[in-house]
Amino acid sequence: MIRSYLFVPADSERKLAKGVESGADALILDLEDSVAADRKAGARQTALAYLRQYADAPGRPQLVVRVNALDTGLTDADLDAVVAGRPDAILLPKAEGGPAVTHLDAKLTAREALHGLPDGAIKILALATETAASLFLCGTYRGASPRLAGITWGAEDLSAELGAESNRDEAGRFTSPYWLARNLSLAAAAAARVPAIDTVYADFRNMDGLRAEAIEARRDGFTAKMAIHPAQVPVINDVFTPTPGMIATAQAIVAAFAADPSAGVVGIGGVMYDRPHLTRAQRLLARIRS
Ligand code: COA
Ligand code: MG
Repeated sequence: MIRSYLFVPADSERKLAKGVESGADALILDLEDSVAADRKAGARQTALAYLRQYADAPGRPQLVVRVNALDTGLTDADLDAVVAGRPDAILLPKAEGGPAVTHLDAKLTAREALHGLPDGAIKILALATETAASLFLCGTYRGASPRLAGITWGAEDLSAELGAESNRDEAGRFTSPYWLARNLSLAAAAAARVPAIDTVYADFRNMDGLRAEAIEARRDGFTAKMAIHPAQVPVINDVFTPTPGMIATAQAIVAAFAADPSAGVVGIGGVMYDRPHLTRAQRLLARIRS
């Protein structure tokens, strides 16, 4: 079960060392926005060394690499460097729908063969809402690649594209274009049958704001959230860990339908549950087992 993804600039050995102690379920070694152009080459090598160092470490977090976007001309060199370290996944920024995922899939297939890795070993996560055009392609992820393992969204690059002054209001809540992006990413993930991962909360000293945003995300169907600072990780892990009450309810729903397979609806403790509730309960239990 992956609840938290912590971004770590891949040119910072200090932060890389801290990342692995953070308790994050996954680390995103960033080669993109948090690394200046003249440090990309060094960051690739640092990321590779890190992947190799932790490859066999027991209980290590998942290791994801965020490469540079397909239109930058940097993606191939990023992949040439890091695939040898067999990251668990590549996070594709500024992804424009299923075709972008298929494109990255082909790049990975070639490099896995070169390095003797099993075909499909490296998964893909897509950052699905960073360009204006990408919003119109959120419905195209399903079936794009068996590597696709999650969809997330971003508001910073999108606000630059839209020409916005800000993407949050005075109270710190996203303004309407970013709720649209968030909600499209949620639907994109559900349609593609992969987990939806909520975006970062940039105000990294504000734990109450982070918790509130994470709870809203969980309520709506996201199963994880990205972090930019280690202090955010415990809050995110806490919010996205199903409570004993949620687990017990899910088990009761599954048991009630199992006891009466022809039932379309059951009553438990004075509450009605029908087939959609069963689906939701099964999904929750599957997530805990993973
Ligand atoms: N991963 C691992 N360690 C991190 C970290 C991260 N994302 N962010 C901070 N730390 C470490 C710091 O190095 C520091 O450790 P140190 O005192 O041993 O050096 C400690 O946590 C406390 O950091 P703090 O002083 O509170 O913050 P900062 O001013 O050093 O860093 C940021 C603030 C925003 C620059 C930093 O959190 C960061 O780089 N975040 C990731 C940014 C990123 O990847 N963005 C792209 C995705 S949107
Ligand atoms: Mg960005």
